Amino acid sequence: MGRIALVTGGTRGIGAAISTRLKADGFTVIANYAGNVEKAEAFSADTGIEVMRFDVGDFAAVQTAIADIIARHGSLDVIVNNAGITRDATMLKQTRDEWDQVIDTNLGSCFNTCKAAFASMKERGFGRIINIGSINGQAGQYGQVNYAAAKSGIHGFTKALAQEGARFGITVNAIAPGYIDTDMVAAVPEAVLEKIVAKIPVGRLGQADEIARGVSFLAAENAGFVTGSTLSINGGQHMY
Ligand code: CAA
Repeated sequence: MGRIALVTGGTRGIGAAISTRLKADGFTVIANYAGNVEKAEAFSADTGIEVMRFDVGDFAAVQTAIADIIARHGSLDVIVNNAGITRDATMLKQTRDEWDQVIDTNLGSCFNTCKAAFASMKERGFGRIINIGSINGQAGQYGQVNYAAAKSGIHGFTKALAQEGARFGITVNAIAPGYIDTDMVAAVPEAVLEKIVAKIPVGRLGQADEIARGVSFLAAENAGFVTGSTLSINGGQHMY
């Protein structure tokens, strides 16, 4: 039976690697994106993956988009909540708007997608929900109270929803990536990033494919006994 997977923020960075990996695994993938139409269309042309534009932080927009996916494809079996943004600033400089943006996009999005798909997954007796957290949600990070709170929230969300989904065949897991070679990490000031990389025992940034491998494992048909877990993929930077 063909399974349908939605990857939020699925056309760039870690999300693009996840989308292509799940396609290679045999899933029909829909890669969501927020704003970068040019990149999304190029990604779709390159990979043959359907792309869909909506704001994951907008509750109504997500309900409409997921209802449309289920109507067109017959089900939504896998959700990878990957979309995320940073608005790094210390408490002295961080604004309420920067807090809200990061909480809504990174954490509110998980509620929005799961709310839209959970009843249908329950009815079909199958679901794989994979939430992309972060090492910085586990360990905290200077200048990231908003991001660390949202990512830490994802880890709690995962464990709570896993308990609700278990009896319906719905697994809910998280991956906590460390510093991965993406545009988001490239935006960290060079001197700061050098210090961070120096603390990674493996001695380098991670690659997006190394996160996608974890998603592939958790999304598999025979991964039904793995739920409520967090897979840390961080080069040994934080052993949790
Ligand atoms: N611990 C302790 N002190 C620190 C520090 C740290 N980690 N980082 C900076 N400081 C200190 C600086 O040394 C400086 O001290 P002095 O004034 O005494 O020299 C002071 O804090 C101010 O630092 P900045 O000049 O850097 O302040 P800023 O306002 O210009 O920038 C910042 C602050 C935006 C947080 C900047 O330091 C920064 O971007 N840091 C990187 C944050 C980071 O790692 N983000 C991760 C993004 S990637 C990601 O999030 C993906 C993922 O999941 C892993």
